[in-house]
Amino acid sequence: MKLLVTGGAGFIGTNFVRQTLSEHPQDEILVLDKLGYAGKAENLAGLERCRLVVGDILDKDLVFDLAKDVDAIVHFAAESHNDNSLLNPDLFVQTNVVGTVHILEACREYKVRLHHISTDEVFGDLALDDPQKFTRLSPYKPSSPYSASKAAADMMVRAWVRSFGVFASISNCSNNYGPYQHVEKFIPRMITNRFLGVRPRVYGTGQNVRDWIHVDDHNHAVYKILETGKPGETYLLGANGELSNLEVVRMLNKLMGYEEDDYELVSDRAGHDRRYAIDARESYRELDWTPEYTNFELGLSSVITWYKNHPEFWEADKAQVEAQYKMQGK
Ligand code: NAD
Ligand code: TYD
Repeated sequence: MKLLVTGGAGFIGTNFVRQTLSEHPQDEILVLDKLGYAGKAENLAGLERCRLVVGDILDKDLVFDLAKDVDAIVHFAAESHNDNSLLNPDLFVQTNVVGTVHILEACREYKVRLHHISTDEVFGDLALDDPQKFTRLSPYKPSSPYSASKAAADMMVRAWVRSFGVFASISNCSNNYGPYQHVEKFIPRMITNRFLGVRPRVYGTGQNVRDWIHVDDHNHAVYKILETGKPGETYLLGANGELSNLEVVRMLNKLMGYEEDDYELVSDRAGHDRRYAIDARESYRELDWTPEYTNFELGLSSVITWYKNHPEFWEADKAQVEAQYKMQGK
């Protein structure tokens, strides 16, 4: 396949490009990424069969130009951080909604297959004791400008499938962890804090639950969807990885040689979702896919090692990210 991967220089996109090139030697990848704060050209440096075009999905002519010659588009590009969406919601609407419409219009024009990467956050949150996890039938109930913009983008995809017959699928995945994640996010922020002698900073009470999946497992599922996914179908992706933020912090402290309770509670995020949890059983069956990282502690340990060995990836961003958090009391 010749793929156009939007956002391919960010966290999940970089891992997707690297994994796909290594596991599918016939594939070629064109990456479209504006190299915003979370995207780095160096993530893709030296990769064969991969070409990076630096540009914006809001540039419709560019999107059309690149879509002409590919077999499929995998659309990762987005503004991805909830905290940032509380400071600059407009950018999230532009990139995540209008940008997705540009991709859809290009797919309509050139009859290109699309896989749209979405999130479980479109479903809002669950009570901590709710026995029913998110399924395909869960109503959309987003809480933040980020999750609302992703929900709106999903609706656009569905409308383009129904009204224009675009061959598009959607996946809603839970929280990813792995290499190349920007230091603004929870796990890389805590790991790099520890390297710098700063205690992890936990929002609110730390009881909030996230459902963790290793990024390689997510990306294997995305490739399976490209191979066997049905038009108009939605796939929920997760790895039964529910943990409270405090459980993650304690595990991380232990792995890094600190007292488990050596963390600081800081002010809570506005509208902070309590819990996400994905029931991915239908996807396991339909895609013949199951996550390989079943031991979160082992996965986390390998991510700590990766950040230790790759200071060039995060050091330059760290001070500015922390200055921004400090202004928010976090
Ligand atoms: P990221 O912020 O690390 O990467 C996003 C990439 O998109 C960056 O390289 C950025 O430069 C690029 N980008 C942003 N705006 C762009 C624009 N207008 N034009 C071109 N490129 C642009 O995010 P991520 O964590 O890799 O997330 C990728 C996708 O996966 C997003 O759609 C996100 O909603 C979704 N997702 C993320 C998670 C998670 O846990 N990180 C979970 C489920 C779904
Ligand atoms: P984050 O990585 O921002 O992902 P998301 O908001 O998409 O779930 O945050 C994961 C969880 O960690 C979330 O409950 C907020 C919390 N959190 C902290 O407690 N401390 C932090 O420094 C950060 C960045 C997040």
